[in-house]
Order: sequence, then structure tokens, then C-alpha cells
Amino acid sequence: MTGFTAWWGLTAIGEARAGDTLVVSAAAGAVGSTAGQIGRLLGCRVVGIAGGPEKCRLMVEEYGFDACIDYRAPDFRARLAAAAPGGVDIYFENVGGAVREAVWPLLNTGARVPVCGLVASYNGAAGAAAAQVDDMLMSLILKRIRVQGFMNADHIGAFDSFEAQMGGWLAGGQLRAAESLVRGLGQAPQAFIGLFRGDNTGKLVLQLED
Ligand SMILES: NC(=O)c1ccc[n+]([C@@H]2O[C@H](COP(=O)([O-])OP(=O)(O)OC[C@H]3O[C@@H](n4cnc5c(N)ncnc54)[C@H](OP(=O)(O)O)[C@@H]3O)[C@@H](O)[C@H]2O)c1
Repeated sequence: MTGFTAWWGLTAIGEARAGDTLVVSAAAGAVGSTAGQIGRLLGCRVVGIAGGPEKCRLMVEEYGFDACIDYRAPDFRARLAAAAPGGVDIYFENVGGAVREAVWPLLNTGARVPVCGLVASYNGAAGAAAAQVDDMLMSLILKRIRVQGFMNADHIGAFDSFEAQMGGWLAGGQLRAAESLVRGLGQAPQAFIGLFRGDNTGKLVLQLED
């Protein structure tokens, strides 16, 4: 089951591809050591995170990791950043807490984070703020929730499909475009402030001339 956990997380959720930089926390653990080796077999650059220089040495020399960083070292964050100079494409999350906080700023655009476990929070050892985030992440595990950020401009190639479907709905009266119209440039400041009071319904439109 340990091997299956590592394989599923890395391939199905992490969508591991050759050339990706993969960071694995609890890298010397059962799941982490397997995930790192699978990543290497798939052509990823594999950076482990583990406790202590001996475990880190083992992961590089015996398990074929490209690098392994000791999260207890005082310069942990700097060493992690140096080991992933092109950023992180996949973070295989086993730990949470301070380790997650160190990895998160290194994530690249389009990165994937298989949230497998949060061992740093299991015994209340993570700080209060980190534990709050870990609680939220734990709900992702327990409820198998998928969270995906997006930016509209990246998907402009889908515009024709959008126009065809939405245009049909609009023309057929199945969809209404909500608008709040404000008239006159002089009304612009109040209209803008109104956005934060919730004065508008739908798109707020300022008509420059009365
Ligand atoms: N989602 C699933 O279906 C699924 C299935 C199986 C396991 N899991 C989860 O996957 C994770 C790994 O499981 P595993 O069986 O591989 O665990 P494991 O072999 O027992 O490894 C746990 C390791 O985590 C590290 N660790 C403990 N506390 C830490 C902390 N505060 N900060 C950083 N590292 C810490 C320790 O290694 P160091 O010496 O490096 O600190 C420890 O040896 C766990 O969170 C587990 O709950 C999830």
C-alpha cells in the first residue's frame, strides 16, 4: 500500500513528467523514499527533504535522489532553494508545517501538489498558523477535494467554444447578463467605492456621459 500511495500520488495527482523538479518531504519515510525513486525513474530531478545529514546522505547515495536537504539545518530554506534553482514542479506533501512553508514559495506556475499526509501536525507540533493551513489541507485528503487555480488569459483558445455555447444560451433567453449602470464620469469615485459595499449586481458599468 505504501508503494501504491507513492505511485498514485505522483502519477495521477502529480502528473510527473521527465524534466520536472520533484520535491518530496519525509523523503526517507516509506512513502517518500518510494515516491522519490519513482520520480527518478520517470525522469524527474528529485529533491528530498529529511531529518538529519545521515538520512539525507542515504537518500542520495543509496536511493538515487539528486539532492536531499536536512530540514533541521539552520540554513534549510536557502539550501532547498539552491537545490531547486528552476523552482518546483511537483511537491509531494507528506509533512506540512514548516516544511510546507519552505517549499511553497518555490512552486512554479502550473505546479502540482499531491497532498498525501501532514505528519508535522499529527501531534500538534506545528505552530498555530501552520496548523490552521494543515487542517485545511487535511480536509483535502479526507474529502478527496481538488483545488485548481486558473487565469482566464491562459485559456483564450477556448473562446470560440465559449461564444458558441454562451451565445446560444443568451440568444435563447436561458442566461441573463447582469449589469449595474452608473451614469456620468463624476459618479466614478462613488461607483468604485460602491464595489466594496456591494452596491452593484453583476458587472458595474460606468457610462461616461449622462
Ligand atoms: N493519503 C494516503 O492515502 C496516505 C497513505 C499512506 C500514508 N499517508 C501519509 O503519508 C505520509 C508518509 O507516510 P509514511 O508511511 O511514509 O511515513 P513514515 O515512513 O512513518 O515516515 C514518517 C517520517 O516523517 C518525518 N517526520 C515526522 N515528523 C516530522 C516533522 N514534524 N517535520 C518533518 N518531518 C517529520 C520523520 O522522518 P525525518 O527523520 O525525516 O523527520 C518520519 O520518519 C504520512 O503523513 C502519512 O500519514 C497517506
